[in-house]
Amino acid sequence: MSAREQTAVLHFTECGAGQPPLVLVHGFPLDGEIFAAQRDALGARSRRVLVPDLPGFGRSPPLAEGKPYTIASLANVLYEALHARGALPCVLGGLSMGGYVALSFARQHPEALRGLVLIDTRAEADSIEGRQTRAAMIEAVRVRGAAAAADQMLPRLIAESTAHARPEVAKGVRQMIERQPATTIIRAIEAIRDREDATPWLSRIRTPTLIVVGQHDVITPPSLAEAMRAALPTAWMTTIADCGHLPPVERPEALTDRLARFLDQVSPVR
Ligand code: MLT
Repeated sequence: MSAREQTAVLHFTECGAGQPPLVLVHGFPLDGEIFAAQRDALGARSRRVLVPDLPGFGRSPPLAEGKPYTIASLANVLYEALHARGALPCVLGGLSMGGYVALSFARQHPEALRGLVLIDTRAEADSIEGRQTRAAMIEAVRVRGAAAAADQMLPRLIAESTAHARPEVAKGVRQMIERQPATTIIRAIEAIRDREDATPWLSRIRTPTLIVVGQHDVITPPSLAEAMRAALPTAWMTTIADCGHLPPVERPEALTDRLARFLDQVSPVR
């Protein structure tokens, strides 16, 4: 199925039809194409799937000068864009940074959700040490551009087993990172670094939630996913074997299958 494209404040690709739509928000420093396999497969199975590029990433323009670029403001930009295209209420999924955005969306707009999917993400804010690592990455990206982010992140994004068996996955992810503007990468690192701790409001989330984690994820490991599941009254958790931080490209069919089963649970296709 070929994806339809629209750009206003956010660029979206969209497939399929049906309610409620599934929205999939990419991680850092990637763009919506990370979810191409899930979008196309689920769109072909009678689901409306929307995949945005966050501001400045992929084909989305940067936010206007002076507009705040925080995880909470990104959640609101996404809410407005989905509202404008009649895509609310939705089932909202987010990968890593996309998961931070999804958690903030769940706090600010609970009525707009029919389900939540948290993929290789965490609820906690950055530690002091984590914030120092972000500062070092900002400096490196300032000097060498997106390639510096790719060099630092790639070895941790993808499981060793994936890197050995399917080197084209690592190559594709590197290309995706390297096409993002350095200014956007820096704004996103600052937003991630300064994000709020979402743990205090996990217990207030009432929408059905699926937590997905790659077995070998070293950035947001299964122990963090398990902690979120324990704190979230309405959550299921599923682990994807032989997978690192990027299930959408490391184990695309496995992730599509988990998403399809979750959608069938929260809103069976009629
Ligand atoms: C991501 O994949 O979005 C990032 O690894 C998130 C982070 O660094 O906290």
